[in-house]
Amino acid sequence: MGRFDEVYGRWQADPHAFWAEAAEDVVWTKRWDRVLNDDTPPFYRWFEGGEINTCYNAVDRHVDEGHGERPAIIYDSPVTETVATITYAELKDRVARFAGALAAQGVGYGDRVILYMPMIPEAVVAMLACTRIGAVHSVVFGGFAAKELATRIDDATPKVIVSASCGIEGQRVIPYKSLLDSAIGLATHKPDRCIIKQRPQAEATMVAGRDLLWEDAEATVEPAECVPVKATDPAYILYTSGTTGIPKGVVRATGGHLVTLKWTMPNIYGMQPGDVYWAASDVGWVVGHSYIVYAPLFHGCTTVLYEGKPVGTPDAGAFWRVISQHKVKGMFTAPTALRAIKKEDPEGKLLAQYDMSHFKAQFLAGERCDPDTLAWAQNMLKVPVIDNWWQTETGSPIASNCLGIELLPFKPGSPTRPVPGYEVHALSPEGAEMPPGEIGALAIKLPMAPAALPTLWHNDQRFVDSYMAEYPGYYQTGDAGIVDSDGYIHVMSRTDDIINVAGHRLSTGGMEEVLANHQDVAECAVIGVADDLKGQVPLGFLILKDGVTRAHDAIIKDVVQMVRDRIGPVAAFKQATVVPRLPKTRSGKILRATMQKIADGESFNMPATIDDPAILDEIRESLLAIGYAKKG
Ligand code: COA
Ligand code: AMP
Repeated sequence: MGRFDEVYGRWQADPHAFWAEAAEDVVWTKRWDRVLNDDTPPFYRWFEGGEINTCYNAVDRHVDEGHGERPAIIYDSPVTETVATITYAELKDRVARFAGALAAQGVGYGDRVILYMPMIPEAVVAMLACTRIGAVHSVVFGGFAAKELATRIDDATPKVIVSASCGIEGQRVIPYKSLLDSAIGLATHKPDRCIIKQRPQAEATMVAGRDLLWEDAEATVEPAECVPVKATDPAYILYTSGTTGIPKGVVRATGGHLVTLKWTMPNIYGMQPGDVYWAASDVGWVVGHSYIVYAPLFHGCTTVLYEGKPVGTPDAGAFWRVISQHKVKGMFTAPTALRAIKKEDPEGKLLAQYDMSHFKAQFLAGERCDPDTLAWAQNMLKVPVIDNWWQTETGSPIASNCLGIELLPFKPGSPTRPVPGYEVHALSPEGAEMPPGEIGALAIKLPMAPAALPTLWHNDQRFVDSYMAEYPGYYQTGDAGIVDSDGYIHVMSRTDDIINVAGHRLSTGGMEEVLANHQDVAECAVIGVADDLKGQVPLGFLILKDGVTRAHDAIIKDVVQMVRDRIGPVAAFKQATVVPRLPKTRSGKILRATMQKIADGESFNMPATIDDPAILDEIRESLLAIGYAKKG
């Protein structure tokens, strides 16, 4: 038996013993009474009775163990021409001071704090400061518009919001503070206080009586100590797209998060304390939470915080420059980023300029890794290129080749096999196991690894309805795919209306809600169509109200702007077409999956329940007119 099979088998035989052993690797203030409370499925409570502090394990622990001088964060920001190193000892001071500032504003155990931040060290400091005092952070990605931020403010009801005057996107300065002010204007819940990091690139206008500069907030406060919380308390809430415009507040339980993430660093990623690890994501996404901030710090690694893009800051050699300059051992990004680099530097001429001798592994996640990109990366980088499949909900990989245990043979297009903590099945609509190699709904047998979500924020019912109701005893991932005869997973598509744009998860339902609000639109649909760079991009179909005489171009321009204003630029909604009718089932359901196949030039089976097959020809005509529906 290979080493991977042995470890996976050990987990399968006794998951409680497996995770209890992993839990020995983190520092508890009080040991758990029960490894898992599974009395009320599908609600699971890991390490019940235990008490622990996230920030202590991420920061203070390493100082106490004599590693205070080790770099914790390397902030590399080509957009501001800055490279700065923060040691663990310095990070401890900065976090304790900002935690004191939050406490001085009345933030304490269980209170929520929203962070709307660019990729600057203060974002990480603020996250850790919240966990230091038992507060619950919710980071909102900067590419979301004011309306999306407002929805999250109303759901999380934060006491304080922490933000900055601006983000920097390539050459452009994006004001954040004006977006924050609009969001607070739109939200019903109002925070007591906003703490703002003023950046030199843009000056934020402060609201008297509500806003406080970061430096002023810290000025006279006492540093705060770590407050132990229950292992089952939330460490954070992270909102992610659901099937409607209302995002899901994924809750991460403190103890399970710590134990699982710490375990993944040596076992999945093959990293040791002191190694330099870099996830080129954003703190607003789950990859940023888990692999920019928490896992590398829990494991005593040095993490790189990169404020830049794969291309254009200044060129397609940016990633290789960072890897070489900081001696990065493992790096994590989305396939989109590699596609962007490949497009500009297909032969790797820029890569050849850098010393990559410390680089040992490339990890990819966030979207399906197409075999072309995988082959290009393997060929160029000459290190294992390891695809991870996971979700905001799980917080760490469901499937991966485990570099730290044993590398299994690679199969292009597959993130390999489920890792310990996850047993994945492809199920038929009736809940039966699909034969190996046949596509089904990918579902995970409960309970999942301790980092996986225990519920949705203040919404147990939606948690059950969204994930647990369809296949009792299983978590429904929302992905469709195959488990092959070697137990390898192949993730093929979503089973819902979520699309993946440049590794960003977006709801087409949410976009449809915006389009439907246009005065001239009677009905609409949004689908994700294949895109060479971003994997998928959204495309809107509009049916206009009777009697509308405005030019179609003008209406399309309006709806594009509306999605940008209400959801944000990150949606990359740039195209729509006006059609006379939409294809539907006899019961009135729009056949989005069939439309997507036509747009991508794929073959499809005529849906048995289609109301009028002739509409599909009309859709194909409309798509051909805008450059889609060509046979691949
Ligand atoms: N704050 C404000 N705006 C942001 C933002 C942020 N943090 N992040 C993105 N945006 C904006 C961009 O400026 C862009 O706006 P535009 O329409 O005005 O040009 C829009 O949102 C789309 O951004 P993005 O998806 O980054 O596309 P891009 O065309 O600017 O860049 C890539 C293309 C491939 C370089 C980019 O998508 C990329 O780096 N992808 C990797 C994705 C990734 O790391 N995902 C994390 C999951 S692991
Ligand atoms: P998010 O919650 O934003 O991380 O998005 C999760 C979704 O992204 C998954 O449900 C998949 O649809 C997709 N995804 C993430 N990683 C992969 C991968 N390695 N292969 C295929 N799809 C992926």
